[in-house]
Order: sequence, then C-alpha cells, then structure tokens
Amino acid sequence: MQSTDVAILGAGAAGLMAAIESGRRGRRTVVLDHAEKAGKKILISGGGRCNFTNLNCRPENFLSANPHFAKSALARFTPTDMIAMVERHKISYHEKTLGQLFCDRSSHDIVTMLERECTEANVALRTNAQILSVDHEPTGIFRLKLKNSPDLLAESIIVATGGLSIPKMGATSFGYRLAERFGHRIVPCRPGLVPLTFTPEDRDLWCDLSGLSTEVVATTTAKSRTKPAFREKLLITHRGISGPATLQISSYWTPGEPLELDLAPGTKVLDPLREQNARRDPAALAQALRTIFPARLADRWTQINQPDDWTNPSLAALEQKIHSWRITPAGTEGYTKAEVTVGGVDTDQLDARTLESRLVPNLYFIGEVIDVTGWLGGYNFQWAWASGVSAGQSA
Ligand code: FDA
Repeated sequence: MQSTDVAILGAGAAGLMAAIESGRRGRRTVVLDHAEKAGKKILISGGGRCNFTNLNCRPENFLSANPHFAKSALARFTPTDMIAMVERHKISYHEKTLGQLFCDRSSHDIVTMLERECTEANVALRTNAQILSVDHEPTGIFRLKLKNSPDLLAESIIVATGGLSIPKMGATSFGYRLAERFGHRIVPCRPGLVPLTFTPEDRDLWCDLSGLSTEVVATTTAKSRTKPAFREKLLITHRGISGPATLQISSYWTPGEPLELDLAPGTKVLDPLREQNARRDPAALAQALRTIFPARLADRWTQINQPDDWTNPSLAALEQKIHSWRITPAGTEGYTKAEVTVGGVDTDQLDARTLESRLVPNLYFIGEVIDVTGWLGGYNFQWAWASGVSAGQSA
C-alpha cells in the first residue's frame, strides 16, 4: 500500500497544472493517467501549435448552467499569468487572431514546460495507470485500486479526466461516473465546437461546393436575452458545415432548431441593382453576390433564391434573406470530431473558489469534466489552467 496527500486523476492540461500548484505547496502529489504519456490533447491542439490562452478571456466566453461559476477561478489565474509561465520557459508565441495565442514552434513546448514544472515541484507522474476504483474509507481517506499496482491512499482527490471528445485519444466517461457515484448531478453532455451535418436535401444543394468558405455572422434562433453571435469563417464540407463560425455556434445549437447566418455582414449587397437603369436579373444578382462570396457559391445561391419578380419589395426581401439565412442542420459530427464536451459535473455542487465538492470533503473536479465550456480560441485551456490552479492551491 502507498499513500499520498493529493492524487490527481488525469494528466491533461488541468491535472498537470493542479499538480504543479499542489506540489509547490509541499503536498505529496501523484498524477495518474491511463495513457502512455501526459498531455496528449495538448499535443494535438491548435493544429499542433496549441492555442494555449486568449488575451480577451472573460467569463462571458464560457457556457455553463451557472454563468457566474467560472469567474473566481478565471480571476485567480489569468492569461497574463499563463503568458508569464510560458515566457519563463522561453517559449516563443504569437497572436494569430482575436487574441488567440499560439506557440511559434510546437505544442510539445507546452507539455515539456508542464512536465518540467511538475518535476521541480516533486510531483510523481504515473502514466499507463489503470484506475479500477475510488472509494471513501470511513476515516475520510480515499482508496484507489489500481491494476498491477498496490492500492494508493490519498487525503484529497482531484478529478481531471476531461470530456468525451476524441475517444481514440483516451477520452472516457470515468470522471462523470465517479462524480455520480459520490452523489453529484451531471448536466447532460453533448458534443461542442463540432462540425454540423446537412439534411440529405441540403447536402444535394451544397456539398459539391465543399472546400469553399465565406465570412458570416452565425447566431441561433433561440429566444434568449444573451444570444451569442460569431463573425468568423464558415466552411462547406462534404457532409455539412464547419469552420470557426460553425464550431462556435454548434456549442449553443439545440437539435431541430434553425441557425441564422448573415452571409454579408455589414454590406448592402443588392444596392447596385437598385441604381438607376441598373439590370435586375439573375446575372446582376450573381454579380452582386460575387463581390462577397466565392463565385461558385454566389452562382449557386442565385440559382436557389431567385425572386418571382425584381420589384423593390422583392429585392428588399432578398436582401433580408441574405442577412438572415436560416438553415436547420441534421445533427453534429459527434464526439469523434468535437473539440469539447458541453455539460458535465453540475457546478451548483462545487465551490467556485476551490473547485471542491460541496458533498464530499477533499474531492475536487477541474477542467472539461465540469459543466464549463469555453468558446473556440484558447478559452478551454485557460479554464483548464485556471481551475487546476484553484484546486491545486486548496487540495
Ligand atoms: P484533457 O482531455 O486534456 O485531459 C484528461 C486526461 O485524463 C487525459 O490525459 C486522459 O488520458 C486522462 N483520462 C481520461 N480517462 C481516464 C481514466 N479512466 N483513467 C486515467 N486517466 C484518464 N482548447 C484550447 O483552448 N485551445 C486549443 O488549441 C485547443 N485545440 C483542441 C484541438 C482538438 C483536436 C481537441 C480535441 C481539443 C482542443 N482544445 C483546445 C480543447 C482542450 O484540449 C480541452 O478543453 C482541454 O484539454 C481540457 O483539459 P482537461 O485537462 O480537462 O482534459
């Protein structure tokens, strides 16, 4: 039998950061992961360059049943703190767009940094560790049964096993099941930051244009006071739509509900057709659309959306349609393609300052396993770092 002060389940972004904080405080800290190496999702993130934070990170950039929950942790460890750590390790980085910071070289730099910090903080990192069960002894100590290893006793447990996306990278439902066993509620999970699929009819209309992209403003049609709107690229794929605008809005999308796309943000596309003596016919419409869309997309849109006549009211209706085009996706590409899981351990049963369970003392949940999901653009890592730091300072 072995014992430790803090056992962290999951050596991903949140778990490694929590380990660094807890180890620095002199707590004997063990991190267990069933994968053969730590930080596998960090390695594939940001196209191999890890979008490790976002300069504009605010609580409003996160989805959760309790929109206030993330505030405390996000204030405790900010993007500036993360940048300071990255700079201490002489990792060069750049801002790509919209405050998104990426490594210049490779995501490996971030994993190496976290592993070095763990070593300096005397953290024991155990990969290939199969956790069979976690039980609470009558003394309040946790007992972890491990495959091919003696039991591990721990004063505190931090659950950092992540979400359900990309099962082939080692994602499991372990954290959710453990939470439920200890009496925690789970906000129903669904794939987020995920490409959306078309109905067969829309696929026939659009999917031969796969590879074309255009800037849109994407919103949902839900009746909500705080309706998010994302002005980014939308990409047509061979099964539906993707690109940053789609991924962002997918996290807010409810199946069966149409999405609304402004295909020409800030532009009055049909003004040229209203000029004196201007032509008003399909060719003129296609020409106007070509100023904002790729030509093939403009031509297709023209074919499908021709008005019955070319009067001013019809042009006004057409302009309106360009700015609020409704499309109802058939579904999502699922967890195999999703970057994150929306939903998770209900935040009402967690302390926002420490991430400790309100039901079971010394049990913590951090990172993606919790019902806190960030937008695309470095927000999910910032949540992983920040929630990890908060729990690591308390456990
Ligand atoms: P994470 O998934 O990182 O770690 C969980 C760990 O637990 C894993 O190491 C896993 O092996 C382990 N584990 C799971 N079950 C276990 C079990 N039963 N026993 C033992 N160990 C177990 N975000 C961002 O901000 N910027 C970006 O650039 C990207 N890019 C990106 C690309 C792709 C392709 C994906 C899929 C995701 C992203 N993300 C992202 C999202 C980001 O990767 C994600 O939100 C964080 O990694 C979440 O950190 P966690 O530590 O909570 O989970």
